[in-house]
Amino acid sequence: MSTDPYGLRPGEAAIELPEDFDAGVYFVGRIRTPWQRREECPKNARESDAVCSIEVDPRYAAALKDIETSSHLLVLYWMDKARRDLVLQAPRHYDTQRGTFALRSPVRPNPIAASVVKLVGVAGPRLSVIGLDCLDGTPLIDIKPYFASVDAVPDAVVGWHAERKT
Ligand SMILES: C[S@@+](CC[C@H](N)C(=O)[O-])C[C@H]1O[C@@H](n2cnc3c(N)ncnc32)[C@H](O)[C@@H]1O
Repeated sequence: MSTDPYGLRPGEAAIELPEDFDAGVYFVGRIRTPWQRREECPKNARESDAVCSIEVDPRYAAALKDIETSSHLLVLYWMDKARRDLVLQAPRHYDTQRGTFALRSPVRPNPIAASVVKLVGVAGPRLSVIGLDCLDGTPLIDIKPYFASVDAVPDAVVGWHAERKT
């Protein structure tokens, strides 16, 4: 099953995905950003300081209690425009192919994206944040407080990225 109108780049490999899903998710809201096309999006969450909105479905409004006490949040979202069947990828801005699980590409079997964002405002079920990199309307899966004490690993390394020339 190919789901991408753009096809494969040299060095990329696709697999046949399982026939059935193992679990389901609930979208708990939508993310509002200034970006309508993938090419316009920042490549990662630190590339832009645009203020974006997270619109939580009113059904889940009570789940936001105390969120304003966090300075930063871990946001999980569903990259709904990404194909899901690539195991090797050759992103345009990188110099070689790499395994999907070695990349932060939105293209993956479960197209879940994660970003640590700065919380700058809360108005009812709408959060204003800095640090997102997704298309306007991207579905929201989850929000968690970011614990610097537990989540930050200052000496963490991604070897291939550190060695990258381009
Ligand atoms: C490299 S991913 C990183 C996502 C997240 N920060 C992470 O690390 O998991 C960000 C890119 O995904 C693409 N993208 C954004 N929203 C998307 C969506 N709804 N569906 C598919 N691709 C999307 C854009 O090209 C954007 O630059």
